[in-house]
Amino acid sequence: MTTAALGVAIRPMDDAEQDAVAALWDACGLTRPWNPPAWDIPFARANPSSEVLVAVTDNGRVVGSVLCGHDGHRGWLYYVAVHPDHRRTGLGRRMVEAGEQWLAAQGVWKVMLMVRDTNAAVQDFYRSLGYDRDPVTVMSRRVAPSPGGG
Ligand SMILES: CC(C)(COP(=O)(O)OP(=O)(O)OC[C@H]1O[C@@H](n2cnc3c(N)ncnc32)[C@H](O)[C@@H]1OP(=O)(O)O)[C@@H](O)C(=O)NCCC(=O)NCCS
Repeated sequence: MTTAALGVAIRPMDDAEQDAVAALWDACGLTRPWNPPAWDIPFARANPSSEVLVAVTDNGRVVGSVLCGHDGHRGWLYYVAVHPDHRRTGLGRRMVEAGEQWLAAQGVWKVMLMVRDTNAAVQDFYRSLGYDRDPVTVMSRRVAPSPGGG
């Protein structure tokens, strides 16, 4: 899949772009010690039910991302990110839509995502794209050591 408009193409990332994607996530405040990009990126890309899509400028700069994948029931979006220099131009919307399209092509009919409570402002972004807050509590438990510790 390749979507080109306004000098930015959206497509699955290349092997050589891993450091650039990690730098983008860092610049967007999305990295955490227990989620090292050097582990998350290959893990997502190794599985046919998940993918990392990137937005790349005409001069090869990675300025947007979304990690999309499904678990056999629902589709999920992670690492929705737009570099601070490229925000409020509609690129975030395009990344979400690209992730949704990738998931729909896999047979997914409902897309989920999680927003950290510390990132409440971004809820307005998702609401503008038609997402609603569900009355659910997300629970989790670690069943193996996290790849990055922490
Ligand atoms: C969230 C993010 C991806 C939005 O990217 P973006 O390219 O600026 O988004 P868009 O330009 O497509 O915005 C679409 C609409 O969303 C809304 N919106 C976007 N950012 C917003 C914000 N910070 N506050 C309120 N509304 C916002 C607006 O309605 C906007 O339309 P407008 O510009 O015409 O007003 C970007 O701010 C980002 O990378 N943030 C840091 C990473 C992050 O928190 N990701 C989400 C993790 S759950």
